[in-house]
Amino acid sequence: MRLEVISADITTLAVDAIVNAANSSLLGGGGVDGAIHRAAGPELVAACRLLGGCQTGDAKATPGFQLPAQWVIHTVGPVWRGGSADEPELLASCYRRSMEVAGELGARTVAFPAISTGVYGYPARAAAEVAVETLQRINTGVAVATLVGFDDQTVAVYQELLARLRRA
Ligand code: AR6
Repeated sequence: MRLEVISADITTLAVDAIVNAANSSLLGGGGVDGAIHRAAGPELVAACRLLGGCQTGDAKATPGFQLPAQWVIHTVGPVWRGGSADEPELLASCYRRSMEVAGELGARTVAFPAISTGVYGYPARAAAEVAVETLQRINTGVAVATLVGFDDQTVAVYQELLARLRRA
């Protein structure tokens, strides 16, 4: 699987699936979740209502409706509580479960926001390390996983980690 980095608004990407950094209700919120719901249209929240919520570290899919992406994979990242409340394991689980769901959907291209690094307060560099380490070890049939940075700092950290990976 190829791992890539881009600077983008994830709602504009014409990939098979985009991942949403949701909350356990799956009924919408702020940040990337709000942007995805606005761009997908009101059918998205109706589809999410049928999913019965989602636990931290798990992932569930809906169609993308008005989005250019065919699917949205909703995952729930951990709230940062200082690092000793299983946050790294739960964040790794978000990436792993999202990739498993993508594989079940037959998605070949998947884009991820920096899960938990906004409202949920996970430090950006530590979260990027979990993302890269987890994704590089997974093979669920996805051909390209794209890490989407929404701010320059996140993009720079992803680029640095991927460059290091390529040198190793
Ligand atoms: N495209 C790509 N990345 C984005 C976009 C976008 N359009 N908008 C924001 N980001 P956050 P969390 C980045 O807060 O920390 C919601 O209310 C943002 O810069 O969206 O997992 C949910 O309902 C940051 O790097 O998600 C939950 O209640 C990253 O996406 C809660 O927030 C994640 O920031 C989840 O918090």
